[in-house]
Order: sequence, then structure tokens, then C-alpha cells
Amino acid sequence: MPLPSLARIPAPPDPILGLAETFRADTRTGKVNLSSGVFVDDTGTTPVLQTVIEAERRLADAAGTKLYRPIDGEAGYREQVRALVLGADHEAVTSGRALATQTPGGTGGLRVAADLVRSTGGGQTMWMSEPTWPNHPQMFHAAGFRVRTYPYTDPTGLRIDEEAMLGALAGASPGDVVLLHGACHNPTGVDPSPELWRRIGDVIEERRLLPLVDLAYQGFGDGLREDAAGLLELVRPGSELIVSTSFSKTFSLYAERVGAVIVIASSAADAAAVQSHVKAVIRVNYSNPPAHGADVVRTILADAELRPRWELELAAMRNRIKDNRRLLVSALEARSVPGNWSSIATQRGMFALLGLTTHQVARLRDEHGVYVVGHGRINVAGFTPDNLDPFADALAAVIATS
Ligand SMILES: Cc1ncc(COP(=O)(O)O)c(C=O)c1O
Repeated sequence: MPLPSLARIPAPPDPILGLAETFRADTRTGKVNLSSGVFVDDTGTTPVLQTVIEAERRLADAAGTKLYRPIDGEAGYREQVRALVLGADHEAVTSGRALATQTPGGTGGLRVAADLVRSTGGGQTMWMSEPTWPNHPQMFHAAGFRVRTYPYTDPTGLRIDEEAMLGALAGASPGDVVLLHGACHNPTGVDPSPELWRRIGDVIEERRLLPLVDLAYQGFGDGLREDAAGLLELVRPGSELIVSTSFSKTFSLYAERVGAVIVIASSAADAAAVQSHVKAVIRVNYSNPPAHGADVVRTILADAELRPRWELELAAMRNRIKDNRRLLVSALEARSVPGNWSSIATQRGMFALLGLTTHQVARLRDEHGVYVVGHGRINVAGFTPDNLDPFADALAAVIATS
């Protein structure tokens, strides 16, 4: 049986990973990549955290085994992750109605969540912000959802258009899934206020919607607890919620593919039943999870000495991003680049959206070797002392002649 003829027609490149490939193939010196969402230090490299190196040393010394892991991950990991996201004392944890499952990264967590909903006859419509991480619509479409969008920022891109967002969600049907970014919205860097989280929770409750929170950057915004505060607003007595979390960025464990999905059901008995479906969808997908990344995360989170050290490393990454935000604003203002840039300094997480046209994005790449994603999404963590000024010069030149 030959391959289907469609398979011989190249698929379109992924909007972000495709850019990274073009960047690698670019032979110009001084090229700048702000397109992929990875943290780099001042030298432009993505370091392995010291606490990760120490945890790996301990794991190597302990030897262990390469036996298959449980379908939903080791109990110790699942417990640590649940407490990290929800807080060990949270009612959803102590009552047993929240259960965590190890997944291959945040992408794996989102896909497991999608398969869980689809395989158990849940809503077929998924609402997501416009804009959102480009992998969201394609992933949930592939999982069988009808994707719909709700407006997010207003035309300035600087603040959430709360009435438009809530108005769209008020038109969702019972059972529809609402995808929300837990913190550090990708790509805008603009997060809901505590009051807006409350109002989102009210609409979800009134319309009987199922919230799915994508928490890929817990600790990159304001702090570990602060960045989980919004989603906790959705955890109400008897309410149901799915959270997908990732340790790619916050433990700098990108290649290890480690994350989790947490399902909060209305009761412990429901949670146990849901967990059986979570395991069923994993079994027919990748069967059971990779071990190493989860062992590293568990070792760090459970250790009284390593955990505070990791929290300091996380804070250092967060502070570098915040410093870069301020440096970028200064560089653009120093060049009098037309635009309202000051809010970049107070946005959260790795990304900022410059609001560029497709033509400007192409000119940055073609004329200056500067790679940014559509509409000018930049990874603020990607600035180094070597590339910040060249970037600001390139942007100033492109905007001045557009
Ligand atoms: C919003 C968002 N969700 C999920 C992910 C997935 O992360 P992972 O690499 O852990 O699959 C990312 C990664 O860029 C992201 O930006």
C-alpha cells in the first residue's frame, strides 16, 4: 500500500518552529532570533539550572531503574505538582477532588486534556483568545474541536477589552470549553486583573462552561503563588477545571518534555473516575510518560535545600526578563521610535507584541536579519547586551520607512 498522495505534498511549516529553521539556515552574522519562546542568559545561551545539575547528580548516584512508569506518572511527582499549582492546603487538594497527571510537556498536557474532553462526550467547541499561542488553534482543531475565538486586547494591544471578552464568553453554550492563559499571556504579555478573573469565573459558572487553563509560565510573571492566583479564582465549591502546566521554561527542561495536567472535579469520587479516563486516553497515545524530567522536578520540589535554590534561579530568570523589558523601552524611546512602548515594561512573561504589519516583519527579517513572529511578537528574554541595540536600530529603520 503506497503512502497517501496527500503525504507527498509538503505541509505548511509551523509558524514558530518553521521560523527557527529559517533562522538556523541564515548565514548572516549579527542575525537576531526573537521568535522562539526560550529563555536565554546574557550570553545568548539557554543554561541548565544549577539545581537541575545537582538533582541529576543525585539521581545518577541513586541509579534506579528504567522500568515503565505508571501511565499517569509517579505519585510523588503528581503530588508535588498539584501542590505547586493549587497550594498544598487548598480545599481541592485536601478533599482529593484535584488529581494531577504527568504529561510530556505542556503541549502533551493540553492534548491529554483535549482527548479527555472529546473521548468522554464533552463540548465540541473550544473558545480561545484572539490572539493566542499559534499552536493552540491547530492542536485543538487536530483533537477534534471546533475552534472559536473571543476578543482579548483592545486595538491598542495594551489592555484587555473586558466587555468584548466577557460578552463573547456569555454567548458560549453550556459544556463549551474556554481556554485561558494562567499567567504571562502569549503573545500579548497582558494578563487579566484579579477583578477580571472573578468576572470570568462568574461567566463560566453562569454559562456552565468548562475552563481549561494553560499555565506554561508559572513564576515568570510575578511569582509562583501570584501567577496561580487567577486560576484559583475559578476553583469554586463544586466547580470543575482543567489545568495544563509545563516545566519547560520554569525549570529550563525544554528537551526533557515534562509537564502535567490537573483535573479538578466536583468531588473526590468524580476525580477518581475522571482519572481512569485520563489514563485511558494516554494509554492509546504514548502509553506512559518519560521518566527523567519528572524525576528531576520531583527531586527539586521535594527537597528542603534544592527547592529554595530553584525558586531563586526562577526569580533570577524572571528578573532578567523584567530588566530586558525596561532596557527595550529605553532603547526604543532613546531612538524616538513612533509608538507607545512604555507598557512593555509592565507586561508579564516572555513575550511582547509590537503590533507590526506583515510587511514590517518581513523587512526586519530580510533587510536586518531580525526574526520575530507575526504581528511582531518578540521574546523579550531573547535580548542580550549584544543584540538589543541592533534590534532597536533595525526596528527604528523599518518603522521610519514604512
Ligand atoms: C502558551 C503556551 N502553552 C504551552 C506551551 C507548551 O510548552 P511545552 O514546551 O512544555 O510543550 C507553550 C510553549 O511555548 C506556550 O507558550
